[in-house]
Amino acid sequence: MAINKQQVRTALTHVMHPEMDKDLVTLDMIEDLIIQDSFITFTIDLPEKDPKLESKLKELCEDAIRKFVDENAVLDITTAVNISKFRNNEDKGEFPGQGHRKKREEKQEQGDDEVLSGVKNIIAVASGKGGVGKSTVAVNLACGLARTGAKVGLLDTDIYGPSIPTMMDAHGRPNITTKKKLIPKEKYGVRFLSMGMLVDPDQAMIWRGPMVTSAVKQFMNEVEWGELDYMVLDLPPGTGDIQLTLVQTVPLTGAVIVSTPQDVALDDARKGVAMFKKVNVPVLGMVENMAYFIPEDMPEKKYHIFGKHGVRNLAERMGTNFLGEIPLEQKVRESSDEGKPIVLGDMGTTSAQKFVELSNNVIQQLAIRNQEQDPTEKIDIKIKP
Ligand SMILES: Nc1ncnc2c1ncn2[C@@H]1O[C@H](COP(=O)(O)OP(=O)(O)O)[C@@H](O)[C@H]1O
Ligand SMILES: [Mg+2]
Repeated sequence: MAINKQQVRTALTHVMHPEMDKDLVTLDMIEDLIIQDSFITFTIDLPEKDPKLESKLKELCEDAIRKFVDENAVLDITTAVNISKFRNNEDKGEFPGQGHRKKREEKQEQGDDEVLSGVKNIIAVASGKGGVGKSTVAVNLACGLARTGAKVGLLDTDIYGPSIPTMMDAHGRPNITTKKKLIPKEKYGVRFLSMGMLVDPDQAMIWRGPMVTSAVKQFMNEVEWGELDYMVLDLPPGTGDIQLTLVQTVPLTGAVIVSTPQDVALDDARKGVAMFKKVNVPVLGMVENMAYFIPEDMPEKKYHIFGKHGVRNLAERMGTNFLGEIPLEQKVRESSDEGKPIVLGDMGTTSAQKFVELSNNVIQQLAIRNQEQDPTEKIDIKIKP
């Protein structure tokens, strides 16, 4: 029989905090509970670092789940220090109650939550293949949009290979408001978060579709995004179940498909376009990344090392817009690794100019799309309890 959250929470009410004389659920110490088949993962929040207590609590939680829920459960329990969450109640000698959270979880389980209701446009950046520059495009697009003065968010949903913390040079767990919402990091006028700030990529490797979707949903709903003109989502590479579920969970305004001009990448990009069409998400257009190589010492040269105009031609064949080509330039890679996206840096580089053009084309396509079509409806996929 499938395990549900209620069973796990009930089991955890049997785990007493050794010093507080209350159980972990009453103390509101359990966060990010996700269940997929017999895989259970959650975080134990603590007001301060205490390795001895952490391992003791993990052990007690594991025992309780094996005893009351499923003796063969696969467990991934992490601990996190969350100072702000417990600060208000320190002097009263107790942790906050759980009423608020419980209500919100119930609401979410009923599926009547508004995903990203303060966001005007949600753009998914997708690719069929990994390594084609999807994150590079997502980050530079977000910063390029912010350059125009727009309010922009960026969410890295690629739990298997999150790269936005590096590309924006911001690491560590996000802060939490008194209402227990995550506060996005903010830099270069972009509010952003990465799944990589909350889940360990090594653990995430064994996650399956519904867990990823559930985690991403929480990420959208439990974050203080505020009002945004644009939200850019960096999707995990590929067109499998995870991507399909994700794009249906969020009311996407449109998708941007990134590919290199190589045949192997183009095949997968075609699948990407087909996937969005299948679920009625408008494809805003395609981007040709690594379109040609520009040597640093001979910037007037262009070498089409992965083939010429592959993405441009494919876009035309598929009746999709072509949003622009980004050259392969060493400075793009360097600025990514330094955490300062090239679109904000040296306008002397072709890539920076091309990313500005790309952002402008996306703004234009969004405007056309919003005039011609109704907002995309999200399909509420029931996640297995
Ligand atoms: N146009 C480009 N010029 C130079 N390097 C690039 C370019 N696009 C991507 N890269 C580099 O290629 C690598 C993979 O890019 P990334 O954006 O992480 O791909 P993906 O998200 O599709 O896996 C990164 O090291 C990145 O800096
Ligand atoms: Mg990436």
